[in-house]
Amino acid sequence: MILEKIKELQQRVEGLQATTADEIEKLRIQYLSKKGELSALMNEFRNVPAEQKKEVGMRINELKQKAFDKINSLREALGGNNDADSAIDITRTAYPIRLGTRHPLTLVKNEIIDIFSRLGFSLAEGPEIEDDWHVFSSMNFADDHPARDMQDTFFIEAHPDIILRTHTSSVQSRVMERQQPPIRVICPGRVYRNEAISARAHCFFHQVEGLYVDQDVSFTDLKQVLLLFAKELFGPDTKIRLRPSYFPFTEPSAEMDISCNICGGVGCGFCKHTGWVEILGCGMVHPRVLELNGIDSTKYKGYAFGMGIERITNLKYQVSDLRLFSENDVRFLEEFEAAN
Ligand code: PHE
Repeated sequence: MILEKIKELQQRVEGLQATTADEIEKLRIQYLSKKGELSALMNEFRNVPAEQKKEVGMRINELKQKAFDKINSLREALGGNNDADSAIDITRTAYPIRLGTRHPLTLVKNEIIDIFSRLGFSLAEGPEIEDDWHVFSSMNFADDHPARDMQDTFFIEAHPDIILRTHTSSVQSRVMERQQPPIRVICPGRVYRNEAISARAHCFFHQVEGLYVDQDVSFTDLKQVLLLFAKELFGPDTKIRLRPSYFPFTEPSAEMDISCNICGGVGCGFCKHTGWVEILGCGMVHPRVLELNGIDSTKYKGYAFGMGIERITNLKYQVSDLRLFSENDVRFLEEFEAAN
Protein backbone atom coordinates (compact mmCIF):
# COMPACT_ATOMS: atom_id res chain seq x y z
CA MET A 1 0.00 0.00 0.00
CA ILE A 2 2.43 2.61 1.22
CA LEU A 3 5.02 1.55 -1.35
CA GLU A 4 2.52 2.26 -4.11
CA LYS A 5 1.85 5.65 -2.68
CA ILE A 6 5.54 6.39 -2.61
CA LYS A 7 5.88 5.37 -6.22
CA GLU A 8 2.95 7.48 -7.27
CA LEU A 9 4.30 10.51 -5.41
CA GLN A 10 7.71 9.97 -6.91
CA GLN A 11 6.29 10.10 -10.40
CA ARG A 12 4.39 13.24 -9.61
CA VAL A 13 7.46 14.88 -8.13
CA GLU A 14 9.53 14.05 -11.16
CA GLY A 15 6.98 15.66 -13.43
CA LEU A 16 6.60 18.87 -11.43
CA GLN A 17 6.65 22.05 -13.43
CA ALA A 18 6.53 25.72 -12.50
CA THR A 19 7.29 28.98 -14.22
CA THR A 20 7.10 31.52 -11.41
CA ALA A 21 8.55 31.78 -7.90
CA ASP A 22 5.00 31.75 -6.55
CA GLU A 23 4.21 28.47 -8.22
CA ILE A 24 7.41 26.93 -6.90
CA GLU A 25 6.53 28.09 -3.42
CA LYS A 26 3.10 26.51 -3.71
CA LEU A 27 4.70 23.20 -4.74
CA ARG A 28 7.12 23.40 -1.86
CA ILE A 29 4.23 23.87 0.54
CA GLN A 30 2.24 21.07 -1.07
CA TYR A 31 5.07 18.54 -0.81
CA LEU A 32 7.68 19.58 1.67
CA SER A 33 6.00 21.69 4.35
CA LYS A 34 4.92 20.35 7.74
CA LYS A 35 1.41 19.82 6.43
CA GLY A 36 2.59 18.63 3.05
CA GLU A 37 2.21 15.25 1.42
CA LEU A 38 5.59 13.96 2.55
CA SER A 39 4.80 14.70 6.16
CA ALA A 40 1.56 12.80 5.75
CA LEU A 41 3.55 9.89 4.45
CA MET A 42 5.80 9.99 7.50
CA ASN A 43 2.72 9.72 9.69
CA GLU A 44 1.65 6.65 7.83
CA PHE A 45 5.16 5.23 8.20
CA ARG A 46 4.50 4.72 11.91
CA ASN A 47 1.97 2.01 11.09
CA VAL A 48 4.27 0.11 8.78
CA PRO A 49 5.01 -3.40 10.15
CA ALA A 50 8.47 -3.66 11.67
CA GLU A 51 9.86 -6.02 9.02
CA GLN A 52 9.03 -3.53 6.24
CA LYS A 53 10.26 -0.42 8.04
CA LYS A 54 13.76 -0.58 6.66
CA GLU A 55 12.79 -0.69 3.02
CA VAL A 56 9.92 1.76 3.27
CA GLY A 57 12.12 4.15 5.25
CA MET A 58 14.76 4.10 2.55
CA ARG A 59 12.18 4.78 -0.14
CA ILE A 60 10.71 7.68 1.74
CA ASN A 61 14.15 9.22 2.21
CA GLU A 62 14.85 8.86 -1.47
CA LEU A 63 11.56 10.51 -2.28
CA LYS A 64 12.29 13.36 0.09
CA GLN A 65 15.66 13.96 -1.51
CA LYS A 66 14.10 13.87 -4.97
CA ALA A 67 11.46 16.38 -3.99
CA PHE A 68 14.12 18.74 -2.54
CA ASP A 69 16.27 18.40 -5.61
CA LYS A 70 13.34 18.95 -7.92
CA ILE A 71 12.21 22.12 -6.21
CA ASN A 72 15.76 23.45 -6.11
CA SER A 73 16.25 22.72 -9.77
CA LEU A 74 13.00 24.51 -10.59
CA ARG A 75 14.30 27.50 -8.64
CA GLU A 76 17.60 27.40 -10.43
CA ALA A 77 15.84 27.24 -13.77
CA LEU A 78 14.04 30.44 -12.80
CA GLY A 79 17.40 32.13 -12.32
CA GLY A 80 17.08 32.66 -8.60
CA ASN A 81 19.32 31.10 -5.99
CA ASN A 82 18.30 28.65 -3.31
CA ASP A 83 18.48 31.21 -0.59
CA ALA A 84 15.11 31.63 1.07
CA ASP A 85 15.82 35.38 1.46
CA SER A 86 16.45 35.92 -2.20
CA ALA A 87 13.52 38.34 -2.34
CA ILE A 88 15.68 40.87 -0.47
CA ASP A 89 17.95 42.83 -2.71
CA ILE A 90 20.79 43.86 -0.46
CA THR A 91 22.37 46.02 -3.12
CA ARG A 92 19.41 48.36 -3.29
CA THR A 93 20.01 51.91 -1.97
CA ALA A 94 18.35 52.66 1.35
CA TYR A 95 15.46 55.04 1.78
CA PRO A 96 16.76 58.44 2.93
CA ILE A 97 16.17 58.99 6.66
CA ARG A 98 14.63 62.34 7.48
CA LEU A 99 16.63 64.04 10.18
CA GLY A 100 14.95 66.30 12.68
CA THR A 101 16.33 69.73 13.49
CA ARG A 102 17.22 71.30 16.78
CA HIS A 103 14.75 73.76 18.21
CA PRO A 104 15.88 77.39 17.72
CA LEU A 105 15.88 77.92 21.49
CA THR A 106 18.17 74.92 21.89
CA LEU A 107 20.48 76.26 19.19
CA VAL A 108 20.79 79.61 20.92
CA LYS A 109 21.07 78.07 24.37
CA ASN A 110 23.91 75.84 23.18
CA GLU A 111 25.65 78.80 21.60
CA ILE A 112 25.44 80.80 24.84
CA ILE A 113 26.72 77.85 26.90
CA ASP A 114 29.52 77.35 24.40
CA ILE A 115 30.72 80.95 24.65
CA PHE A 116 30.77 80.88 28.45
CA SER A 117 32.35 77.48 28.66
CA ARG A 118 35.25 78.85 26.65
CA LEU A 119 35.55 81.48 29.39
CA GLY A 120 35.82 78.79 32.04
CA PHE A 121 32.18 78.57 33.18
CA SER A 122 30.78 75.13 33.88
CA LEU A 123 27.19 73.99 33.57
CA ALA A 124 24.81 73.83 36.55
CA GLU A 125 21.13 73.01 36.58
CA GLY A 126 18.37 73.05 39.17
CA PRO A 127 14.73 72.01 39.51
CA GLU A 128 11.85 73.86 37.84
CA ILE A 129 9.57 73.04 40.76
CA GLU A 130 11.27 74.94 43.55
CA ASP A 131 10.71 76.16 47.07
CA ASP A 132 10.28 79.74 48.15
CA TRP A 133 13.70 79.75 49.80
CA HIS A 134 15.73 79.10 46.65
CA VAL A 135 13.67 81.34 44.37
CA PHE A 136 13.08 84.28 46.71
CA SER A 137 14.27 84.24 50.31
CA SER A 138 17.84 83.15 49.66
CA MET A 139 17.97 85.72 46.88
CA ASN A 140 17.22 88.54 49.33
CA PHE A 141 13.61 89.17 48.32
CA ALA A 142 11.79 90.88 51.17
CA ASP A 143 8.67 89.09 52.41
CA ASP A 144 6.47 91.69 50.78
CA HIS A 145 8.38 91.93 47.50
CA PRO A 146 5.93 92.21 44.59
CA ALA A 147 7.61 89.36 42.67
CA ARG A 148 6.19 86.94 45.22
CA ASP A 149 2.76 88.18 44.27
CA MET A 150 0.19 85.78 42.89
CA GLN A 151 0.28 87.84 39.69
CA ASP A 152 3.72 86.59 38.77
CA THR A 153 4.32 83.33 40.53
CA PHE A 154 2.61 79.99 40.04
CA PHE A 155 1.91 78.56 43.48
CA ILE A 156 0.85 75.04 44.29
CA GLU A 157 -2.35 75.33 46.25
CA ALA A 158 -1.81 72.61 48.81
CA HIS A 159 1.82 73.62 49.39
CA PRO A 160 2.25 77.40 49.52
CA ASP A 161 6.00 76.94 49.90
CA ILE A 162 6.33 75.08 46.59
CA ILE A 163 6.36 77.18 43.43
CA LEU A 164 7.37 77.06 39.80
CA ARG A 165 10.61 79.02 39.63
CA THR A 166 10.19 82.49 38.16
CA HIS A 167 13.85 82.87 37.29
CA THR A 168 17.01 80.77 37.09
CA SER A 169 18.54 82.78 39.93
CA SER A 170 17.35 79.94 42.16
CA VAL A 171 20.19 77.88 40.70
CA GLN A 172 22.68 80.47 42.03
CA SER A 173 21.49 79.57 45.49
CA ARG A 174 21.57 75.83 44.79
CA VAL A 175 25.17 76.07 43.64
CA MET A 176 26.40 78.31 46.48
CA GLU A 177 24.85 76.18 49.20
CA ARG A 178 26.87 73.17 48.10
CA GLN A 179 30.08 74.74 46.84
CA GLN A 180 32.58 77.27 48.19
CA PRO A 181 34.31 79.73 45.80
CA PRO A 182 35.77 79.88 43.28
CA ILE A 183 32.41 79.40 41.57
CA ARG A 184 31.96 79.99 37.88
CA VAL A 185 28.72 78.52 36.52
CA ILE A 186 26.28 78.98 33.70
CA CYS A 187 22.72 77.80 34.40
CA PRO A 188 20.21 77.38 31.58
CA GLY A 189 16.61 76.45 32.25
CA ARG A 190 12.89 76.98 31.89
CA VAL A 191 11.08 79.48 34.10
CA TYR A 192 7.41 80.22 34.70
CA ARG A 193 5.40 83.38 35.23
CA ASN A 194 1.71 83.81 35.54
CA GLU A 195 1.15 86.01 32.51
CA ALA A 196 -1.49 86.04 29.80
CA ILE A 197 -0.13 84.41 26.65
CA SER A 198 0.38 86.80 23.74
CA ALA A 199 2.93 87.46 20.98
CA ARG A 200 5.14 89.23 23.52
CA ALA A 201 4.59 87.27 26.74
CA HIS A 202 4.22 83.64 27.69
CA CYS A 203 3.59 81.74 30.91
CA PHE A 204 6.91 79.96 30.47
CA PHE A 205 10.16 80.93 28.84
CA HIS A 206 13.86 80.20 29.14
CA GLN A 207 16.76 81.90 30.84
CA VAL A 208 20.47 81.51 31.18
CA GLU A 209 21.99 82.59 34.47
CA GLY A 210 25.65 83.25 35.08
CA LEU A 211 27.41 83.38 38.45
CA TYR A 212 31.01 84.10 39.29
CA VAL A 213 32.19 84.21 42.92
CA ASP A 214 35.82 84.54 43.94
CA GLN A 215 38.23 86.92 45.66
CA ASP A 216 38.66 90.31 43.99
CA VAL A 217 35.83 90.09 41.48
CA SER A 218 34.94 93.53 40.17
CA PHE A 219 32.24 95.19 38.12
CA THR A 220 34.89 95.72 35.43
CA ASP A 221 35.27 91.95 35.12
CA LEU A 222 31.54 91.65 34.65
CA LYS A 223 31.44 94.33 31.99
CA GLN A 224 34.36 92.85 30.10
CA VAL A 225 32.90 89.36 30.09
CA LEU A 226 29.53 90.64 28.90
CA LEU A 227 31.11 92.70 26.11
CA LEU A 228 33.04 89.69 24.93
CA PHE A 229 29.89 87.59 25.09
CA ALA A 230 27.87 90.12 23.05
CA LYS A 231 30.54 90.30 20.36
CA GLU A 232 30.79 86.52 20.16
CA LEU A 233 27.04 86.08 19.88
CA PHE A 234 26.05 89.05 17.70
CA GLY A 235 29.25 89.87 15.82
CA PRO A 236 32.43 91.90 16.44
CA ASP A 237 30.83 95.30 15.77
CA THR A 238 28.31 94.88 18.57
CA LYS A 239 28.36 97.56 21.28
CA ILE A 240 26.96 97.29 24.79
CA ARG A 241 25.70 99.81 27.30
CA LEU A 242 24.81 99.33 30.94
CA ARG A 243 21.95 101.21 32.59
CA PRO A 244 21.49 101.33 36.37
CA SER A 245 18.72 99.04 37.54
CA TYR A 246 17.47 97.20 40.59
CA PHE A 247 17.39 93.53 41.59
CA PRO A 248 17.14 92.40 45.22
CA PHE A 249 20.05 89.98 44.75
CA THR A 250 22.60 92.31 43.14
CA GLU A 251 24.10 95.65 44.21
CA PRO A 252 24.87 97.61 42.15
CA SER A 253 22.55 96.28 39.45
CA ALA A 254 22.34 97.05 35.78
CA GLU A 255 20.48 96.20 32.63
CA MET A 256 22.50 95.63 29.53
CA ASP A 257 21.53 96.78 26.06
CA ILE A 258 23.27 95.81 22.86
CA SER A 259 23.35 97.89 19.70
CA CYS A 260 20.34 96.69 17.72
CA ASN A 261 21.39 93.66 15.76
CA ILE A 262 18.61 94.13 13.25
CA CYS A 263 19.20 97.73 12.09
CA GLY A 264 22.84 97.97 13.18
CA GLY A 265 21.98 100.70 15.69
CA VAL A 266 20.37 103.14 13.26
CA GLY A 267 16.87 102.62 14.65
CA CYS A 268 14.06 100.29 13.59
CA GLY A 269 10.75 98.88 14.74
CA PHE A 270 12.40 96.18 16.82
CA CYS A 271 14.52 98.59 18.89
CA LYS A 272 11.68 101.13 18.94
CA HIS A 273 13.95 103.47 16.99
CA THR A 274 16.43 103.79 19.83
CA GLY A 275 19.20 101.73 18.24
CA TRP A 276 19.48 99.65 21.46
CA VAL A 277 17.82 96.50 22.76
CA GLU A 278 17.87 95.21 26.30
CA ILE A 279 19.08 91.63 26.60
CA LEU A 280 20.01 90.97 30.20
CA GLY A 281 20.06 91.93 33.86
CA CYS A 282 23.25 91.82 35.88
CA GLY A 283 25.14 93.14 38.87
CA MET A 284 27.48 92.41 41.76
CA VAL A 285 26.10 89.67 43.98
CA HIS A 286 24.57 91.33 47.05
CA PRO A 287 26.73 90.55 50.11
CA ARG A 288 23.59 89.42 51.92
CA VAL A 289 22.96 86.83 49.20
CA LEU A 290 26.45 85.44 49.74
CA GLU A 291 25.85 85.24 53.49
CA LEU A 292 22.38 83.71 53.11
CA ASN A 293 23.95 80.97 51.01
CA GLY A 294 26.84 80.21 53.31
CA ILE A 295 29.63 82.23 51.69
CA ASP A 296 31.79 84.69 53.65
CA SER A 297 31.07 88.12 52.14
CA THR A 298 34.11 89.70 53.77
CA LYS A 299 36.31 87.34 51.82
CA TYR A 300 34.45 86.85 48.54
CA LYS A 301 32.69 88.93 45.95
CA GLY A 302 30.76 87.93 42.88
CA TYR A 303 28.88 89.01 39.84
CA ALA A 304 25.77 87.52 38.28
CA PHE A 305 23.76 87.99 35.13
CA GLY A 306 20.59 86.54 33.67
CA MET A 307 19.10 86.67 30.20
CA GLY A 308 16.04 85.43 28.34
CA ILE A 309 16.81 82.97 25.57
CA GLU A 310 13.63 83.80 23.63
CA ARG A 311 14.57 87.45 23.42
CA ILE A 312 18.04 86.67 22.12
CA THR A 313 16.61 84.19 19.62
CA ASN A 314 14.21 86.89 18.41
CA LEU A 315 17.14 89.18 17.84
CA LYS A 316 19.20 86.58 16.04
CA TYR A 317 16.43 85.11 13.92
CA GLN A 318 13.76 87.81 14.00
CA VAL A 319 10.97 85.65 15.31
CA SER A 320 8.09 88.02 15.83
CA ASP A 321 5.72 85.91 17.93
CA LEU A 322 6.78 84.15 21.14
CA ARG A 323 4.04 81.57 20.76
CA LEU A 324 5.83 80.05 17.74
CA PHE A 325 8.46 78.64 20.08
CA SER A 326 6.03 76.31 21.82
CA GLU A 327 3.58 75.41 19.06
CA ASN A 328 5.80 72.72 17.50
CA ASP A 329 4.78 73.73 14.00
CA VAL A 330 7.17 71.74 11.83
CA ARG A 331 7.13 74.42 9.13
CA PHE A 332 8.54 76.90 11.65
CA LEU A 333 11.07 74.45 13.08
CA GLU A 334 12.31 73.46 9.62
CA GLU A 335 13.31 77.05 8.94
CA PHE A 336 16.24 76.50 11.29
CA GLU A 337 17.57 73.53 9.39
CA ALA A 338 20.52 75.49 8.04
CA ALA A 339 21.51 76.64 11.54
CA ASN A 340 21.68 73.05 12.74
N1 PHE B 1 16.75 87.00 37.64
C1 PHE B 1 16.67 88.23 36.89
C2 PHE B 1 15.37 88.21 36.08
O1 PHE B 1 14.76 87.18 35.97
C3 PHE B 1 17.84 88.41 35.97
C4 PHE B 1 19.14 88.63 36.71
C5 PHE B 1 19.95 87.55 36.98
C6 PHE B 1 19.54 89.86 37.11
C7 PHE B 1 21.14 87.71 37.64
C8 PHE B 1 20.73 90.07 37.77
C9 PHE B 1 21.53 88.98 38.02
O2 PHE B 1 14.97 89.21 35.53
